[in-house]
Amino acid sequence: MKEVNYKHLRFNPFTLIGDEWMLVTAGNAVSGCNTMTASWGHLGSLWGHDDPTAVIYLRPSRYTKEFVDREGRFSLCVMDPSFKEQMGYLGSVSGRDEDKIARTGLTPVYADGTVYFAQAKLVLVCRKLYAAELQEDGFLCRDIIEANYPRRDFHTMYVGKIEKVLVRDEEYLMH
Ligand SMILES: Cc1cc2nc3c(=O)[nH]c(=O)nc-3n(C[C@H](O)[C@H](O)[C@H](O)COP(=O)(O)O)c2cc1C
Repeated sequence: MKEVNYKHLRFNPFTLIGDEWMLVTAGNAVSGCNTMTASWGHLGSLWGHDDPTAVIYLRPSRYTKEFVDREGRFSLCVMDPSFKEQMGYLGSVSGRDEDKIARTGLTPVYADGTVYFAQAKLVLVCRKLYAAELQEDGFLCRDIIEANYPRRDFHTMYVGKIEKVLVRDEEYLMH
């Protein structure tokens, strides 16, 4: 994989996250890692001119959240559509119950202060800047609560500074 400047990336962030999905992964080489599929998140700019950021949302029940909370960094991996079945599995079974990574055959690469997958097409290495649970009082549209949080298990929002971008091929690069 090759490191690129985030300014040279070209893709639709809405479809990239919402339709292609991504893997949120955290951990370290000593105690291991966990990963899960995510389709909620944002890419943009916050708190500085040269500070690309990624925002992700993790429910309290996710095993991956324990790893993200423990570590200073997490990674976001975009996979080829041929991995859709594995991503469905990684997004429906918990790493508490099965060795998900071994079962999918993905290869964790411990590098850059975090962990990502050798098979990823695009990797964003993120350093955590901010984490906070969504607050019930903050919802201006109450319908969202009933639709998504009948058990009031609000997501925690994490803002990560994108420290490094790795790409496998030219697909995501401007020409
Ligand atoms: C397409 C898809 C998108 C998902 N997006 C999110 C998300 O953005 N945030 C979240 O907390 N869970 C999301 N999930 C659910 C987790 O991936 C799922 O609960 C997973 O089994 C958690 O695994 P873990 O317990 O090993 O962390 C998504 C699942 C799928 C299939």
